[in-house]
Amino acid sequence: MSTSSVHAWLRRAMAVVAAASLAGCDALPTLWPAKDGYPYTTTDPISDFGLLSQHIYVTITVVVCVVFVLVTILLAVTLIKFADRGTPGNPEQVHGNIAMEIGWTIAPIGIVLFLIVPTIRTIFLQQDAAPIGAKDENGQVLMGEDGKPLRPAVEIKVIGRRWWWQFEYVNEGIATSNQFAIPDDRPVSLFLTSDTVIHSFWAPRIGGKRDAIPGRVNRIWFNLTEDIAQGQPDHIRGECAEYCGEAHSLMRFEILGLDGADFDKWVSEYKGAPTFADASIKQKGEEAFSAAGCTGCHSISGFAGAKGTQGPNLTFLGDRRFLAAGIKDMYPNGRADQATARAVLTQWITNPNSIKPGTTKSANASRALDGMNIPADANGDGILSPEEFAPEKVDAIVSYLLSQTSSFPLQ
Ligand code: CUA
Repeated sequence: MSTSSVHAWLRRAMAVVAAASLAGCDALPTLWPAKDGYPYTTTDPISDFGLLSQHIYVTITVVVCVVFVLVTILLAVTLIKFADRGTPGNPEQVHGNIAMEIGWTIAPIGIVLFLIVPTIRTIFLQQDAAPIGAKDENGQVLMGEDGKPLRPAVEIKVIGRRWWWQFEYVNEGIATSNQFAIPDDRPVSLFLTSDTVIHSFWAPRIGGKRDAIPGRVNRIWFNLTEDIAQGQPDHIRGECAEYCGEAHSLMRFEILGLDGADFDKWVSEYKGAPTFADASIKQKGEEAFSAAGCTGCHSISGFAGAKGTQGPNLTFLGDRRFLAAGIKDMYPNGRADQATARAVLTQWITNPNSIKPGTTKSANASRALDGMNIPADANGDGILSPEEFAPEKVDAIVSYLLSQTSSFPLQ
């Protein structure tokens, strides 16, 4: 570790101590701001759920700091005051002290109760029914003239797959994968489940982890507390937080935090299908996509032949910054560098295991391709060689997928 990074850590440690000693403690100062290169920070919450967790975290930190200081002082006093200074004979023999014994029994109980009350309160708040819509400052749900919530809660079904995330908007009929959008002006309700193994959905800035379990639906609901400016989405990162198999550590997702009006626009764009400036990109792309058997696993809006559900929905793939469930950055040098994006997507299509060891993409692809009698991956190594998959076909698919952008590409 370099001297400057040691200094940076010391500064942060001192900030923690200062925050703990201030002890008003509604919120810890943001030690690792998300916009400062710490996208998985837990000290920069942006939802009411995250703030509640933060409050408990700060309370516990302050209490343990106080206990630590008291114990250290008592220990130091004892060591100095009762040190062996060579006095002959046994020290004074002490047999019990009722006041002290009652004291050190009651004090820990008091401390535990002090910590338990906010913890349990927060747990129960989170288990409550999710609000059906945005509320006014008196806590009443804002209702429209039609008797329905003015800004109804956005309900999203989150399905953990091996090893990526599927998101389905219950009321809007939109499906995305590995990236989804939420508004800053109404509640968001997530229904978490899984198709095969247990995953854990965790977006640290939104709040705590929640398991996604096959055959069961767990829930998270929250309101964003950040007022997001129009046209300036917040990129909120998340990942799978429970070991779920070979590619567990390669199972991330990104949430697009949007201003309310932007969210409505996002929904209307995503309800439709991508448009293409050049119709031949769509035509050639769809042909190659079908011929390679991709339609067996993937869905794309506006492409009637692509209705597969085994793999991620690829509609508006050009919006996503990362491939392979948040793993491979397609735009490390910015959106203008399309060459890198093309190279990354080509690698992902032809040799997915080189990006994400353990991905079921190639195995499924081979199976689908066998079933459709398409001569790809003939030697079964999970790599589609140029002989197995003509470069111009891959190029057509790459152009087709990257051309699918809405007004909300992630950068
Ligand atoms: Cu999914 Cu770990």
